[in-house]
Amino acid sequence: MRANSSSNWFSRLKAKTIGMVSMAIAVCFLAVSCAGGSGGGSTPVAAAGIAPDIVADYIHAVMEADRTAYTKHVINRLKTLEGKDKPDGVIDVEATESWQQTDGIPLPAQMFRLGSEIASDGSPFTYQLLSSWYINDNHEPRTEFEKTAIQSIVDTGEPYKEYQEVAGKPYFSALYPDKAVAEACVTCHNTHPTHLERYPDKVFEMGDVMGGIIINIPLDEAA
Ligand code: HEC
Repeated sequence: MRANSSSNWFSRLKAKTIGMVSMAIAVCFLAVSCAGGSGGGSTPVAAAGIAPDIVADYIHAVMEADRTAYTKHVINRLKTLEGKDKPDGVIDVEATESWQQTDGIPLPAQMFRLGSEIASDGSPFTYQLLSSWYINDNHEPRTEFEKTAIQSIVDTGEPYKEYQEVAGKPYFSALYPDKAVAEACVTCHNTHPTHLERYPDKVFEMGDVMGGIIINIPLDEAA
């Protein structure tokens, strides 16, 4: 499909918004770290700071935008997806779960996890995908908080946001629903061998909450 001028205009607007959001996040993190700092006479930026639930919304917006852009502008241009030909493909490479073994490139969910592993490495700020019907074991909801949050987003379809304590430290956490927005989400998961083996009775339908993205913001990081 050819993009028309109004969608170009929209894309430019979106790109600008994402730029602004990234800047906002930088400011927020500065605010959070200054608030946590126990001295040094720094100006109390956080006094006029941004509420953690808004910070979480900004971070989530960037993650979603990156994932959508990767799917739309990289995955959709490839000739093959998980062994199936893509009619509009122009790049001769396959997106596949076993990308490392096949010289292919990662699926969007894997790309997301690879980024999250880098960002969370050695950092109290963490984020990741979670699901009750996980293909990858790393996405299993484990803590009481995660279990409650997952149940809530499946029941309501809305984000679940709450303060919590992790290893004695205060956090603000938010779990955003990850919904089946494209037929490919449903088809790929419903036919995945791990899914069929673990959850033979779970058949995703369009619009279903398939899992969520959790963002854990430490509130007293002194660094
Ligand atoms: C071509 C196959 C494929 C498509 C299309 C796909 N996924 Fe996945 N998805 C996977 C695989 C494989 C994983 C596990 C990735 C990993 O190893 O981290 C995964 C992981 C996930 C997870 C984390 C829980 C888990 O299963 O480990 C969620 C939530 C999820 N996908 C939602 C979606 C949504 C929503 C869409 C559509 C926008 C989508 N997926 C499209 C294959 C796919």
